[in-house]
Amino acid sequence: MSVNPDKMDLPPRGELFDFHGVSMTHYFTDNWENVQNFQARPDDILIATYPKAGTTWVSYILDLLYFGQTALERQTSIPVYERVPFLELTPPRLHTGTDLVNNLPTSPRLIKTHLPVQLVPKSFWEQNCRMVYVARNAKDNMVSYFHFDSMNMIEPEPGDWKNFFQRFLDGKMVFGSWYDHVNGWWKKKQTYSKLHYMFYEDLIEDTGREIDKLCCFLGLSPSAEEKKQITGGVQFDNMKNNSMANYSTVPFMDFKISPFMRKGKVGDWKKHFTVAQNEEFDEDYKKKMKDPTLQFRTEI
Ligand code: PPS
Repeated sequence: MSVNPDKMDLPPRGELFDFHGVSMTHYFTDNWENVQNFQARPDDILIATYPKAGTTWVSYILDLLYFGQTALERQTSIPVYERVPFLELTPPRLHTGTDLVNNLPTSPRLIKTHLPVQLVPKSFWEQNCRMVYVARNAKDNMVSYFHFDSMNMIEPEPGDWKNFFQRFLDGKMVFGSWYDHVNGWWKKKQTYSKLHYMFYEDLIEDTGREIDKLCCFLGLSPSAEEKKQITGGVQFDNMKNNSMANYSTVPFMDFKISPFMRKGKVGDWKKHFTVAQNEEFDEDYKKKMKDPTLQFRTEI
């Protein structure tokens, strides 16, 4: 039997298991003690999302808003996943998220998490940190997640689309159920005033307007020129072509299977869902999404 040398270095894909009632893989729980005991600072900003909802987009926007003018070399030499470390990640042969955050020289520190709200380390709440949550409609989120799990060699084997579709509905995904995630954070917004809840579809519709809202929440007032630069710099094609924003430097992602910046659209689900799947999805969605105040757009 021949061995593909490229494959020899690949880490094993994660296997799902139940972690405090949420499906996880060891890549996100191995460092749990340090995650749980993480000491947030009052000016830390937590960017929280269900995977594939627009994390990188908003991380990059925030990074440019805070540091785009002051630290120009940052833009050309440090990838976004180091500028905005992923708190609970323990990647193979790379630094843990907590180490990266603890070594960040910046103030504020921008921190990424995919944790459902109930698993967020308590010091973030104690320090009354600002948090930005980004949500994306479940159909596009599912499609994006499917392609991501195909190309990211530390994610569980995605299986075929039919299987993946069912697993998504059952919440058997890394970071658990999309339904619980978006609802949990939405509910938190009612009692925690320092949480800005935003939608991927709104960002697509009018990036400038959403940046204005973010600035209002963060108390920032960039000049018109700066805002124009940021709005342009974070457009899909610009981020896709920017090696500091497109994840092309991550060793365990296989861009031959799918790029990280894949489509960047609302409504791509229509190319994946069969008519029967769409009906099944809509029926199930009505049962799970009872809160009329939380509405998503699956097309714009
Ligand atoms: S991750 O791995 O959870 O951090 O991924 P995340 O960044 O949350 O989501 C990746 C998807 O967001 C799309 N994306 C964008 N869309 C539009 N404009 C910009 N600038 C942008 N940046 C990232 C990215 O293409 C993934 O979505 P899909 O649908 O797969 O293209």
